[in-house]
Amino acid sequence: MFNQDKIVIAIDGYSSCGKSTLARELAKELHYVFIDSGAMYRGVTLFAIQNNHIHNNDVDRGAIIRNLNKVELSFKLNSESKKPELFLNGVNVEAIIRTPKVAAYVSRVATIKEVREKLVREQRKMGSYGGIVMDGRDIGSVVFPEAELKFFVTAEINERVRRRFSELRDNGIETTKDEVKANLLERDRIDSTRMESPLIQVEDAIEIDNTKLSKTEQLEIALSLVEKKLATLA
Ligand code: DC
Repeated sequence: MFNQDKIVIAIDGYSSCGKSTLARELAKELHYVFIDSGAMYRGVTLFAIQNNHIHNNDVDRGAIIRNLNKVELSFKLNSESKKPELFLNGVNVEAIIRTPKVAAYVSRVATIKEVREKLVREQRKMGSYGGIVMDGRDIGSVVFPEAELKFFVTAEINERVRRRFSELRDNGIETTKDEVKANLLERDRIDSTRMESPLIQVEDAIEIDNTKLSKTEQLEIALSLVEKKLATLA
């Protein structure tokens, strides 16, 4: 679509705001790589659950840190859906990392400094040649503070609950809207108040409130901002 050098696009925001959808669609349009950094935190959380480092609502931070070197994460493109899927130590875990059990613990695992250091290192490697759209909580602030373009995506809480609830239902996961809302609010609280790289809206991020936008409208707004940015860099 554009001929200029490939840039880094950072997308941050709260859970279930449509960040990953925007990042994936932008990457597709631009022929860039898309990385859902939240999937990586979910992958570490799944590893911790599978290895009993999380039990009875207790997250054993020491055990997670000691065993981090046994966690190998990678993304592979699903040739049918054309969506990247997360592999944990060679096993496709894309479906299981989206379950409420992983969602219930992931924010707490994401507060662990050593976990963040490992994942940020891997994320920076993925973006070292540009041509990447990455979404998460600390992408514009910590992972790629020099990103040429940064978006901060927001949406009203009830709209986020509605989207997340129907996504879970479509995936056959039983839950209630109250449960979904409680989980989202709790994750918002943990993500924005933690010591290590809390979710913040950095000054140079452009805010997109998509409460009343369709996916296509949101994509068009973002694409026109990319176009403008690339024109300034040409
Ligand atoms: O985007 P998500 O809902 O899949 O993210 C899951 C959790 O991972 C979220 O509660 C916060 C954490 N996370 C993070 O701390 N930093 C990131 N870059 C991405 C996700």
